[in-house]
Amino acid sequence: MSQQPHAQPGDRDDRSLVICKPDAVERGLVGEVIGRLERKGLRLVRAELRHLDKQTAAAHYAEHVGKPFYDSLIAHITRSPVLLVVVEGPPGTWQVVRQMMGATNPAQAAPGTIRGDLGLSMTENLVHGSDSAESARREVALFFPDLA
Ligand code: RTP
Ligand code: MG
Repeated sequence: MSQQPHAQPGDRDDRSLVICKPDAVERGLVGEVIGRLERKGLRLVRAELRHLDKQTAAAHYAEHVGKPFYDSLIAHITRSPVLLVVVEGPPGTWQVVRQMMGATNPAQAAPGTIRGDLGLSMTENLVHGSDSAESARREVALFFPDLA
């Protein structure tokens, strides 16, 4: 009988949550975003189109409560359906995704990144990606409790 051959599910940092935000879905860029993630070598664990309610959006972006951009952030992410995606890859996958997304402000994001190539607006910046292993675990559990 083997003893604990695998890390416990709560310990893993090989998964991350990606959200194709409403602007990405509305502009028909979901295939482009997913294609980039797949070509990089990340695997899709789950993908679901979902219209987020304000309560779920507030739970997701709880760290930003009270900031000047909070209301527009919540209004944007709840405007129309998003594509929720859980990707899996090597340890630290969240960092790979963040590199591929580029800087928060698409006007300043490097060419070759998703935001740098496809966006111009700070609010409508196409994608969300977990910003730490802890965030990845929390966000995957928030949207897909069965994967937690
Ligand atoms: P996200 O959480 O959506 O992946 O974006 P991020 O980590 O790159 O940036 P974060 O600091 O978490 O901010 C969340 C979202 O809020 C909007 N934002 N606006 N006007 C502003 O100064 C400002 N700062 C942030 C952006 O839409 C950002 O994606
Ligand atoms: Mg963030």
